[in-house]
Amino acid sequence: MDEGSIILKTINLRKYYEVRSKILKRVKQFVKAVDDVTIEIKRGETLAVVGESGSGKTTLGMVLGKLLEPTDGKILFKNLDITYSLPKNLLGKIRLVFQDPYSALNPRLKIVDSLIEPLQIMNIGRKEAIEKVAHYLQLVGLPESYMSYYPHMLSGGQRQRVVVARALITEPEFLILDEPTSMLDVSTQSQILRLLRSIKKEKQITYLFITHNLVVARYMANRIAVMYAGQIVEIGGKSNIFQNPLHPYTRTLLSAYPSPNPRSQWNPIIPEELTVKYYENKCRYIDRCSLKMQKCEKNMPTDIKVEEDHYVKCFLYAET
Ligand SMILES: Nc1ncnc2c1ncn2[C@@H]1O[C@H](COP(=O)(O)OP(=O)(O)OP(=O)(O)O)[C@@H](O)[C@H]1O
Ligand SMILES: [Mg+2]
Repeated sequence: MDEGSIILKTINLRKYYEVRSKILKRVKQFVKAVDDVTIEIKRGETLAVVGESGSGKTTLGMVLGKLLEPTDGKILFKNLDITYSLPKNLLGKIRLVFQDPYSALNPRLKIVDSLIEPLQIMNIGRKEAIEKVAHYLQLVGLPESYMSYYPHMLSGGQRQRVVVARALITEPEFLILDEPTSMLDVSTQSQILRLLRSIKKEKQITYLFITHNLVVARYMANRIAVMYAGQIVEIGGKSNIFQNPLHPYTRTLLSAYPSPNPRSQWNPIIPEELTVKYYENKCRYIDRCSLKMQKCEKNMPTDIKVEEDHYVKCFLYAET
């Protein structure tokens, strides 16, 4: 494996949703769910994307997973431009797992048929497909006999295992996991997370792991990207982000992170005002920032490199 090489890269990626103003229906407004995102994801790593609800995590995952077309920008997968189409030889190489194992499986299909489905577009014959189903069920810790079950016969955790098997069956190189365990109870959640970690090790897949749970991000990731109002406001190695959070928003998020020391005071800073404004010529975090300066009113911050593998969009760290 070519360790450290870039598997997926985005350049100024944007996804805007058009919404109509409630009062002036003719006026177009845009939710800039993903706005000017330029990232590089290394082969074999797990990049966690964290941020509050509405920050654009799912939209980013869906654009990278080719379920949504971007408004602008580029996506390169293994140096190939896949922004608008995926070449045939890359079919199945990027897969997604979503939060809800209940809606992810067709209730009328037996598990075997749900698992075979993604192989059909790849022209894999039924016999080979069934062998793969048996292998992947075993990989996710389910007995082969579950092939003939229907989803309603499975628990939430078992269903999510099937959903993971369904994503893996096409042998993806890049897996996007969008809150894959947040609907499961705590013990099932940790079983699935452990499973995902061991699969990653065995299959050497690259993960984009979307979560609002920092404990999960810390357990799963090598690097962390913090999203706010459609932008990646801070990105870096896990220890850089956890030990040296720089963006005021990252610090707020981490203030809500439970300390391993039970004696330490836990005083999360929870913002009162949650409406996000997609400013173009000032910092988007300005209305919530207690450290704002004059220049934050006049310009939008761009990425500043503060140390190796650590970038932040904040004027506090600008030299001039
Ligand atoms: N189809 C759509 N049409 C219009 N706006 C949308 C659409 N899908 C998402 N949005 C908006 O885009 C923004 C980003 O949504 P997204 O679902 O990507 O956020 P998220 O970070 O995944 O949030 P959560 O943590 O709640 O899952 C939100 O303001 C959301 O309301
Ligand atoms: Mg989401």
